[in-house]
Amino acid sequence: MITVVLGMQWGDEGKGKIVDLAARRADYVVRFHGGNNAGHTVVIADKKFSFHLVPSGIFNPKTVAIIAGGTILDLEVLVGEMELLEKAGIKLKHKLVLSPRCHLILPYHKALDHAYENARGKNKLGTTGRGIGPTYADKVSYNGLRLYELLHWNTFVEKFTFQAGMKNKILTTFDVAPVDVKTELVKLKKFRTQLLPYIQDTYPILTAAIAKKKHMVLEGAHGSMLDTDWSPYPFATASNTLVGVVNIGGGIPIDKVDKVVGVVKAYLSRVGAGPVPTELFNNLAERIREKGAEYGTTTGRPRRIGWLDLEEVRFCRRLNSVSTIALTKLDILSGVSEIKVCVGYTMDGKKIHYSSCGYEELAKLTPVYKTFSGWKEDITKARKFTDLPKNCQTYVTFIESFVGIPLGLVSVGAERSANILAS
Ligand code: IMP
Repeated sequence: MITVVLGMQWGDEGKGKIVDLAARRADYVVRFHGGNNAGHTVVIADKKFSFHLVPSGIFNPKTVAIIAGGTILDLEVLVGEMELLEKAGIKLKHKLVLSPRCHLILPYHKALDHAYENARGKNKLGTTGRGIGPTYADKVSYNGLRLYELLHWNTFVEKFTFQAGMKNKILTTFDVAPVDVKTELVKLKKFRTQLLPYIQDTYPILTAAIAKKKHMVLEGAHGSMLDTDWSPYPFATASNTLVGVVNIGGGIPIDKVDKVVGVVKAYLSRVGAGPVPTELFNNLAERIREKGAEYGTTTGRPRRIGWLDLEEVRFCRRLNSVSTIALTKLDILSGVSEIKVCVGYTMDGKKIHYSSCGYEELAKLTPVYKTFSGWKEDITKARKFTDLPKNCQTYVTFIESFVGIPLGLVSVGAERSANILAS
């Protein structure tokens, strides 16, 4: 069984918990794109773990975590997460495998990310500042360095020195301090020593796993609406985030995928700039942000809050061939007296679909809302659909019928067990 878990909004949908659950029976859990701009939180026995690179399913005793080639790696962050896991008693030897195809986020990428953002002034994109755009730019312009280069230290030193020299010229024009090649090489050599035992071609491992019909969970990062091609570009991340990346970044043939789980938060959040049609600017947004702890896992920035946008979710469902929905953070809406859901858009009096909108249209259009009466009860102990208050049931049922595919899971709390599973 191969299951892909993808976010259906702008990231932060609560994928970490869903991956962790899906991975309970998984032999392999795989990351296949993006970098440490992603952040996944898993709560186990009241302990909160936040990861940016290591796949969330790592806590399951028999699961092997694979970081496949589409992922880009900040070695300092990766080593930090590995040390944290070892401290938590997770033995990583034979449990974590890193593809040599992974491109590296290097110090000059981070410096460039900041320099470009500063230069944009009031038109900042609100990147996470983790060097993501510049790293992918180097990848496609043949200037990238991978774990593969790191295996061959002398080649790495030569290429790193050359690349850093080029980047330093750019940084200097922005009045930013150049990267100190010698100091950085000392750090990188140390990381290399720590990581060498984990670098191994992941393609044969995953191909053999598919042949043996092993359980595999592919952990999507970010969200579908941050896809570099299908977002309101440039308000995007630099990688593709749709289901096709399991093939490109993970080497998994698409026809081997059995199930695509689309994770949808019961309301909406967004970090960074760009138009969000259903954004709320009132006290309610503040209340939801506080109750839902809607602060970036990566940067700590307060997330923008809005009503659930089903026009956008339905578009993502189609793009990703989603088979089932996991609805998350429903408990956060308890106590909201009136809940709205966006069911379409109009512009200049005419219907317009998400797929036809660039950022100009998204900023101008008028969302069409359906309004639901809320519920007051705490729902975190609900474990069956019928445990939910009637108004809550109506809200959930509407989402399912509008999106047009079954809800496989409704998450009603941060704890691992706080779920209602479809029978
Ligand atoms: P970058 O990926 O750091 O270049 O940032 C580009 C945009 O994507 C910014 O608006 C970020 O806030 C957003 N972004 C990237 N990754 C995530 C994520 O995992 N969750 C939420 N937003 C993200």
